Amino acid sequence: MIKTAYLDSIVSRETSKKIVKYCDFLIKYNKNLNLISKSTESIIMSRHIEDSAQLLKYINIEDNNILDIGSGAGFPGIVMYIIKNDLNINFKLDIVEKSSKKCTYLQELCKFLEIDVAIHNHDVNNLKKKDYTTLVSRAFKPLDSFLNILDMSNIKFNKILLLKGQSYNIEIDEAKKNWEINCDTHESVTNPGSKVLVINSVKKI
Ligand SMILES: C[S@@+](CC[C@H](N)C(=O)[O-])C[C@H]1O[C@@H](n2cnc3c(N)ncnc32)[C@H](O)[C@@H]1O
Repeated sequence: MIKTAYLDSIVSRETSKKIVKYCDFLIKYNKNLNLISKSTESIIMSRHIEDSAQLLKYINIEDNNILDIGSGAGFPGIVMYIIKNDLNINFKLDIVEKSSKKCTYLQELCKFLEIDVAIHNHDVNNLKKKDYTTLVSRAFKPLDSFLNILDMSNIKFNKILLLKGQSYNIEIDEAKKNWEINCDTHESVTNPGSKVLVINSVKKI
């Protein structure tokens, strides 16, 4: 029903229906909120859903308490949360998103999809909960700024998963001027040249 290679290989029929409901809901809200670029509505499955879902490849049993930073339309966190059961993975999901309008949309979305996600309408710097196993993020900040924000906000984590475009290596080189980073890069299943960054440890120089 979904027709993208990676997604079709992992999702059940029931999850597939839920993803279609999610996309319809998002596109309806996109008329008034700038959730995704209008030009990507027709390719939402590959551009946004599959792109987000691929982070599940790097989730294991220890990643039981995940924070999605700057989730916007719900990417990547909500997509990962919807699909996790098909892969026998379980985790609690928190989202921090500073836009009140997007948080209202996210609350409505979670109600609509009947999923239990903690949504924090804050600037990430003011997030009260500080302890997570795993951070995920997409199209939020360049790596060096992202690591600075984590440092300033005192958020604790064991692993970071990031979706990055073709200039990922420039971002890594910039960040390495200020941080000692243990990072694996993996090919994106959706965009040739894009990467998934798996950061296993980071220390300020
Ligand atoms: C470019 S959008 C990306 C949204 C989504 N992750 C995606 O991939 O489509 C960046 C999002 O981060 C949110 N954001 C920006 N700065 C933030 C901050 N300091 N704390 C929390 N959210 C923030 C914005 O409101 C926006 O929804």
